[in-house]
Amino acid sequence: MKRLIITFAILCLVVIVGVGAFVWSGVYNIGADDHHTKPVYALMQALRERSIEHHAKDIVVPNLEDPQLILKGAGQYAAMCTGCHLAPGMAENEMRPGLYPKPPQLSKFRPDPREAFWVIKHGIKMSAMPAWGSSHDDATIWSMVAFLQKLPDMTPAQYKDIVAKAPPDEDMDMDMSGHDHDAAEHAHEQ
Ligand code: HEC
Repeated sequence: MKRLIITFAILCLVVIVGVGAFVWSGVYNIGADDHHTKPVYALMQALRERSIEHHAKDIVVPNLEDPQLILKGAGQYAAMCTGCHLAPGMAENEMRPGLYPKPPQLSKFRPDPREAFWVIKHGIKMSAMPAWGSSHDDATIWSMVAFLQKLPDMTPAQYKDIVAKAPPDEDMDMDMSGHDHDAAEHAHEQ
């Protein structure tokens, strides 16, 4: 029994030293253009999917058919999301080909509302997907979820139309007024 414990402890030590040496050596390629092997990618994908399902399962979904909510979401989406997720009528850009994992085109499918809410609010670690909950309240995040339910049915013209009618992203307005305020203060100082 004692021998077994000692053997196990030595084994653990070897693994810890081995992993430490691997990390310290720097031979691992952290570049985004060096893709994971298939088994590693499959494992990470399973981890991501199960994590999102687990964390999103008890979220209570509000009424996503409210036209005002959908309209608000259109403005938010156009202001913050198209650079990575594109929109109807939008061509590939210079950033997306270099992203790994690649952001899905959200006009191609309808994400589950609970899971979309959780992902938008909390983001996804070690990917480009930000946690928008750091700067947006739940109601604003639901507006984006409501909009995403409608996006796959939209033609480029309909998309353009709804974004033109949408209320502007008020956070962008706040930034603008902040700058104006600074400018006014500087003018006063001089
Ligand atoms: C800088 C790039 C970037 C921006 C900006 C961005 N995302 Fe993402 N998003 C990603 C990436 C990358 C993924 C996929 C991550 C993964 O697969 O692990 C993702 C995943 C998602 C998913 C999950 C889709 C699925 O597979 O079910 C949703 C929903 C989403 N984003 C919504 C949004 C919304 C809404 C916005 C704007 C508020 C936004 N994203 C802005 C990069 C971005």
